[in-house]
Amino acid sequence: MKNERILVIGALGQIGRELTMALKKLHGVENVIATDRVDSQADEDTGFRVLDVLDKAAFSALVKSEGITQIYMLAAILSATGEKNPQLAWNVNMQGLLNTLDIAVEQKVEKVFWPSSIGVFGPLSPKINCPQFTVTEPETVYGISKCAGEYWCNYYHKKYGLDVRSVRYPGLISYKAKPGGGTTDYAIDIFHAAIKEAFYNCYLEADATLPMMYMPDAINATLKLMQVTKEKITIRTAYNLSGMSFSPAQIAKAIQQHIPEFKICYTPDFRQEIAGAWPQSIDDSYAKADWGWSPEYNLQTMVKDMLHNLHNISETEVQKN
Ligand SMILES: NC(=O)c1ccc[n+]([C@@H]2O[C@H](COP(=O)([O-])OP(=O)(O)OC[C@H]3O[C@@H](n4cnc5c(N)ncnc54)[C@H](O)[C@@H]3O)[C@@H](O)[C@H]2O)c1
Repeated sequence: MKNERILVIGALGQIGRELTMALKKLHGVENVIATDRVDSQADEDTGFRVLDVLDKAAFSALVKSEGITQIYMLAAILSATGEKNPQLAWNVNMQGLLNTLDIAVEQKVEKVFWPSSIGVFGPLSPKINCPQFTVTEPETVYGISKCAGEYWCNYYHKKYGLDVRSVRYPGLISYKAKPGGGTTDYAIDIFHAAIKEAFYNCYLEADATLPMMYMPDAINATLKLMQVTKEKITIRTAYNLSGMSFSPAQIAKAIQQHIPEFKICYTPDFRQEIAGAWPQSIDDSYAKADWGWSPEYNLQTMVKDMLHNLHNISETEVQKN
């Protein structure tokens, strides 16, 4: 395999931490430069650098000095946080992407990964098995920025031949890093609450079914998409991607099979409106056909694995203290 030089932007986030580890395993620790706007105090990570994606000069200089061949641009303001500060979300999500695309073209970076989201869909999108090509019309600033971002990626591919690839991640569930202010964060918070106090007050309604994915599947999908030959990529906006779909009531029931005393109540807030506008399930047949995508985890296997890993983490913390 050719010696790739990888730049990860937003590497301290929920996806960034795990994707960086996977990329280091694949390409070698010395070939992956992990960056974030904030400093990595907890990491003894030697390759870590501070980089604000909005600082185009510093970004460009780093790509040049490190001979970067692939960029993974994960920096973003997510859906729930974005609604509290729409201008900031638009600026980071849009200008951050445009800086990335420009620099990639200028410096002949070979491949770019930039994730889109199910947030591109809106109340007029089909709710069940939402197709790849359909009405989007998002109503959050996050969704608008992802929708516009997808078209920018397609534009840079068509106009400049840039090999930029993207997926519409569903809500991602993981235990290694905290979620970053999205509407689907409840599906992580619920595990911590279940283990700590056997009780969770959910900010979505009991039947708010949403498309979700366990992080190992999201990392596999990302690596798979980035490794496939470019002739196989027929979609240069962003691929629909599906893992599982469940409601708060259904995940609570699955947790109760392991923690029978666990109880949940519901106090919906502004995030219910965002969730209510999104599809409940996603048709990802293009990702399956073009690059052989297939998820491994379902609700039951994900819940079992999450609880197992979170128990191990809390036991290690108790032993340390
Ligand atoms: N987590 C999910 O469920 C989910 C779902 C769909 C799409 N996505 C997309 O995946 C990407 C990563 O999401 P995540 O969940 O890891 O988000 P996160 O909020 O956990 O992490 C984002 C990271 O970007 C960094 N960042 C913010 N502004 C920056 C800037 N100006 N310059 C450099 N870094 C900056 C933050 O410090 C943070 O570490 C985003 O594009 C997000 O929209 C995530």
